[in-house]
Amino acid sequence: MIVAIDGPSGTGKSSTSKAVAAKLGLSYLDTGAQYRAMTWWMLSNGIDVDDASAVAMAADKPVIVSGTDPGAPTVTVDGVDATGPIRTQAVTAAVSAVSAVPEVRARLVRLQRAAAASAPEGIVVEGRDIGTTVLPDATVKIFLTASPEARAARRNGELKGMEATSLQATREALVKRDAADSGRAASPLAKADDAVEVDTTELTLEQVVECVVTLVEERTSR
Ligand code: DC
Repeated sequence: MIVAIDGPSGTGKSSTSKAVAAKLGLSYLDTGAQYRAMTWWMLSNGIDVDDASAVAMAADKPVIVSGTDPGAPTVTVDGVDATGPIRTQAVTAAVSAVSAVPEVRARLVRLQRAAAASAPEGIVVEGRDIGTTVLPDATVKIFLTASPEARAARRNGELKGMEATSLQATREALVKRDAADSGRAASPLAKADDAVEVDTTELTLEQVVECVVTLVEERTSR
C-alpha cells in the first residue's frame, strides 16, 4: 500500500500525510525533508548551492537517514539530528536550487524507493514528484492545492515564533519557490494524470484527512 501525496508548499501536505499514515497504521516519508537535509549539508560544508556542478559532485557524500514514524519524523545527516536545522530560512531559500540538480534527485529517489520497498504495512510518501516519477505505481495518488493566500497564511503560522516574517514576504518566497520547483527540467512539481486533486483552501485539516482516508479505503476496500 503506497499513498503518494504531492503538491506545492503550504497546502497541508505534511500535516495531512502524517495524520493519514497514523490513522491507517502506515509508515511516513517526508521527501522534502531529504532535499532540505541535502541542502543543509551543502550549506554547512561551504558548497555554493548556485554552482550546479559543485552540488552534483557532492551529492553522494552526506549520509541521510529518514525516520518513518508519523508520530515523530526525524532526519539525520552523517549521524547528526538535522530535524530542526532543515527548517531555517537559509535552507528554505536554497533548497530549490539544490533539488533541481539531477545527481541530487537520482541519489534521493534511490533512498525514497528503498524506504517504500521496506515498509511492511505500507507507506505515505509526500513530495512533489512522487506520483509522477518516484513511485508511479502508487496505490493512491493525491495532489493537494490551495490558493496562494491560504498557503502563505499556513506557512506563516508554522514559522511563528521561529523567525519573524511578514505574510507578504512569506507569500512572495512561496510563489518563487513553487515557480522554481514547477519550472525545473528534472522531475518538476506536477500532478500525475491519475492523481486525485484536492483543493484544501476552504477545508480544515480534519476534512482533508477524512477525504484522503476515504479515497484510500475506496481504492483498497480496507
Ligand atoms: O515540502 P518542503 O517544502 O519541505 O520541500 C522542500 C523543497 O524540496 C521544495 O521546495 C522542493 C524540493 N522537493 C522536491 O524537489 N521533490 C520532492 N519530492 C520533495 C521536495
